[in-house]
Amino acid sequence: MSIAGATPAKPARERIAVIGAGLMGHGIAQVFAVAGHPVRLYDSDPGTLAAAPARIRGNLEALGQDVAAADRVRLAATVADAVADADFVVEAVAEDLAVKRAVFAAVEAAAPAGCILASNTSVIPIGAIMAGLADRSRTLGTHWFNPPFLVPLVEVIETPETAPETVARTLALHRAAGKIAVHVRRDLPGFIGNRLQHALWREAIALVEAGVCDAETVDTVVKAGFGRRLPVLGPLENADLVGTDLTLAIHQIVLADLSRATGPSPYLERLVAEGRLGMKTGQGFRRWDAASAAAVRDGLRRHLQRALEDEQAAAAGAGESTQ
Ligand SMILES: NC(=O)c1ccc[n+]([C@@H]2O[C@H](COP(=O)([O-])OP(=O)(O)OC[C@H]3O[C@@H](n4cnc5c(N)ncnc54)[C@H](O)[C@@H]3O)[C@@H](O)[C@H]2O)c1
Repeated sequence: MSIAGATPAKPARERIAVIGAGLMGHGIAQVFAVAGHPVRLYDSDPGTLAAAPARIRGNLEALGQDVAAADRVRLAATVADAVADADFVVEAVAEDLAVKRAVFAAVEAAAPAGCILASNTSVIPIGAIMAGLADRSRTLGTHWFNPPFLVPLVEVIETPETAPETVARTLALHRAAGKIAVHVRRDLPGFIGNRLQHALWREAIALVEAGVCDAETVDTVVKAGFGRRLPVLGPLENADLVGTDLTLAIHQIVLADLSRATGPSPYLERLVAEGRLGMKTGQGFRRWDAASAAAVRDGLRRHLQRALEDEQAAAAGAGESTQ
């Protein structure tokens, strides 16, 4: 059964199912609930699932939003229970192709025809995740950023088999929920955001590995330097600002010198092999204790929350001035 060619009426309230209630899943459920949609949430780990409502309430409290929205999120006992009457299913389980494929097989068996099936994978091509399904016209990617309720972007990724209506409905659903949803027209590993991020991370690690500087210096150069401009000046706006002629002159010198590694850095592989996994083990590229890790997390959340509040205030001001 294909939904290609049909123009389904969009219900004012979409019934949303979220599979995976971890870091991303509970936050995605929260966004849809705040937007007024009924949400069914499922996780194979009973503890994670049971903790989700309190986690969502805590987030809403911290944001100064109405905690009653959390009541629109109902927990489901099985995948089938979660998706049985859904209009839109989004999967946010572990980043493992086999696990995701098994989840979507269960979703397809129970979800109604016409229900859209979306994956929140970070980098796995959507076509690979959905390859075993009978109707791939209703499948696509919706790639959110952490935390889903503070970072506005959602990348909506189509595959060659995704129906245009599936993309249109998904963009409309996310935009109506207050997200900045962009259409990614090719199903490439990492989509747009993670390709850009990891091009930067590859060079960052290469600089440390080559002994040019330490990890803290890399982070300072980004945060105190070009990172300051990024929220208001994208890279290609910046290229136009300085001039494409200067950009060309820079690329003629620097590009040949950048890392072109096609696999993970041996330095990164060594960190992982030695158990230096980052904040969770106290050491990664840098050393961490509970206080310094908490300071980074708190600072990030405050920064993202302020940015969102500033945008909301600016939008409200613009609304008033046009009335
Ligand atoms: N963490 C991020 O910043 C981020 C950002 C964007 C996308 N993603 C992607 O979102 C997905 C989830 O990431 P996360 O950070 O929320 O991970 P997480 O580990 O916090 O949550 C994953 C959850 O999936 C559950 N799960 C595993 N197998 C399952 C199954 N078969 N059925 C139901 N639930 C199952 C786990 O119990 C866990 O609670 C991954 O694909 C990840 O790559 C993560």
